[in-house]
Amino acid sequence: MPEPVTRTVCLLGFGNVGRRLCELVARNDDELAERHGLRLRFVAVGTAAHGSLLAPAGISAADVLELATDPAGGRRAFPEPVRLGVELLLASGADVLIEATPLDPHGGRLAIAHLEAALGHGADAITVNKGPIAWDYRRLSTLAAAHGRRLLFEGAVMDGCPVFNLFRSCLPDCRLLGFEAVFNSTTNFILDAMGEGVSFADALAQVQAAGYAEADPSHDIDGHDAAAKVAALANVLMDAGMTPDDVPKDSIRAVTPERIAAARRAGRRLRVVCTARRDGGGVSGAVRLTELVAEHPLFSAGGSTLSVLLQTDLMGTVQIAEIGALPEQTAYAVYSDLLALHESR
Ligand code: HSE
Repeated sequence: MPEPVTRTVCLLGFGNVGRRLCELVARNDDELAERHGLRLRFVAVGTAAHGSLLAPAGISAADVLELATDPAGGRRAFPEPVRLGVELLLASGADVLIEATPLDPHGGRLAIAHLEAALGHGADAITVNKGPIAWDYRRLSTLAAAHGRRLLFEGAVMDGCPVFNLFRSCLPDCRLLGFEAVFNSTTNFILDAMGEGVSFADALAQVQAAGYAEADPSHDIDGHDAAAKVAALANVLMDAGMTPDDVPKDSIRAVTPERIAAARRAGRRLRVVCTARRDGGGVSGAVRLTELVAEHPLFSAGGSTLSVLLQTDLMGTVQIAEIGALPEQTAYAVYSDLLALHESR
């Protein structure tokens, strides 16, 4: 069997997703080499507050995890001081950037700068940060094409559950006409827990402990995460050219237990529902607090079950559900993008 091809990775962001990705790659190192002829070696890891790693010779995912874990199993800072992501990426000379920094709901400029630096300097880029796709997809995809690089982002919406890849690989020539979706686990959890008598603050603490909430949970609560997902999906599959600022959004802050209980008594469920549709010459999107009736196909979406109804021109409406959206599933999105990249090179 030929020697596996080594691809070097710069990972920016080592939160829940970055760590899970390293665990997944470490577990599947042999599989990647034997089955796919791919060996992944990390040449840099950047964090905002837990140091950085620059290892030009490349180390395995298992070694990254060892460096980031103290003897008691807790988190340990990487050996070098925190460095700017772009600086670290360029110093590393990585083949692939994995952008896994937290969502910035006000323009995503830092993550965009990371992707620009990668694509402009000969690296392919994978982002699980939905910000760049929500804010700047057209320009970034043009930049990637101009440099003969690839920009992949399956994890931007519904984690590793194939949404973008579904259209790319399984629905040839289908155009997306619109969609309706439940895209945010944190608000699902909070609304359901409040329906069981848990306070808003306790429900939020539980969902943060479970690892679903954004680093700043107001991004979930006030609809920014959902709006970014609407814009990302609409930009890629409907050529919407929109940003999250174009998406009106409802917050769940003012929802009372009484309102949730009244919906329940009527056999309905309160959900944060994301929509987009073609509207005259353009595309409009929205994030709205909605009471779903039991017959609605999205009614069963709740907790960490996410679902989208994709209305297409050639294949009618296709529904996809992700049952249990955990950081592991987001890590799988990166894993599948890494393989897609490897197989296209
Ligand atoms: N904070 C997001 C959610 C997870 O609650 O759905 C990442 O998309």
